[in-house]
Amino acid sequence: MHATAQAQPNIALVKYWGKRDAALNLPAAGSLSITLDALHTRTRVRFDDSLDADDIALNGEHDATQTRKIDAFLDLFRARAGIATRAHVESGNDFPTGAGLASSASGFAALAIAVDRALRLELDAHELSMLARRGSGSAARSIFGGFVEMAPGTRADGEDAFATPLLDARAWPLKVVVAVTSRKKKAVDSRAGMETSQRTSPYYRDWIATVPGDLDAARSAVQARDFEKLGAVSEASCLAMHAVMLATRPALIYWNGATLECIQCVRALQADGTGVFFTIDAGPQVKAVCLPDDATRVADALRAVTGVEEVLISGLGEGARIVEDAHACA
Ligand code: PMV
Repeated sequence: MHATAQAQPNIALVKYWGKRDAALNLPAAGSLSITLDALHTRTRVRFDDSLDADDIALNGEHDATQTRKIDAFLDLFRARAGIATRAHVESGNDFPTGAGLASSASGFAALAIAVDRALRLELDAHELSMLARRGSGSAARSIFGGFVEMAPGTRADGEDAFATPLLDARAWPLKVVVAVTSRKKKAVDSRAGMETSQRTSPYYRDWIATVPGDLDAARSAVQARDFEKLGAVSEASCLAMHAVMLATRPALIYWNGATLECIQCVRALQADGTGVFFTIDAGPQVKAVCLPDDATRVADALRAVTGVEEVLISGLGEGARIVEDAHACA
């Protein structure tokens, strides 16, 4: 009753910010993302009859809040398997955790895949996506690789709110340059931030109304491999989400000075004809999506921006999967 899984974070191009049901973690609108290949989460799960409580170590640390969340997540699988057995969970990331690099997406996707295998549930990918969603909305998308679309669904039970692959990573091998501008954990996590935006941001309703049109535009840009069109809709979606965040009371300002400098850097590169666009999540890191031949130029330019601590270059990768136990956790 054990298994090890690996998953990678995904970056939303059409963003998700707001829920239609908090308890089931149902998104208020759809989203569209790309799964990365250079940042990894490895999660090992072992169910153990001798345990009285789940034993959970994330990056080698035991944290009460995370343990409660993961406990509840494991209960969803225990209910399906008809067991009460507790588990050891060891999970590690080879990138900064909780800093706007989508560690919750890769974390819950890896956990869902590992628990499914450990309990021999053999759930299909859409069921796994639905279950991963219960841990974190964005995790539903990391079950799949390449370009992925998340459906918000309309059913109250959430059985139609899952992700579906749109296009294989190899079919359009874009690169993502991540400019890390701070390794600090963010002050307000996505779940709390979304909830406050929904309640207090005067732009929230308009934001949700823009998403279906953005999704149509992004989906057809992906299908046509139209980089310019995908860039335009992605930057617009990102900035609209941050406008909602800024107008939240109290304001959610996830950017720092270097974040804005990176945006200006990307805009200057665009003006020079470089194939690049930016996107930013609930954190200060800037993700520059680029055409493969332009990745080195983009990385060099972002590395030179004051306040950029590190630049990571990633391709697009596969979805969450089982790996050999010998690989252990990062
Ligand atoms: O599902 P969460 O709690 O990881 O929230 C994701 C929120 C954003 O990263 C800002 C947007 C997105 O669609 O990934």
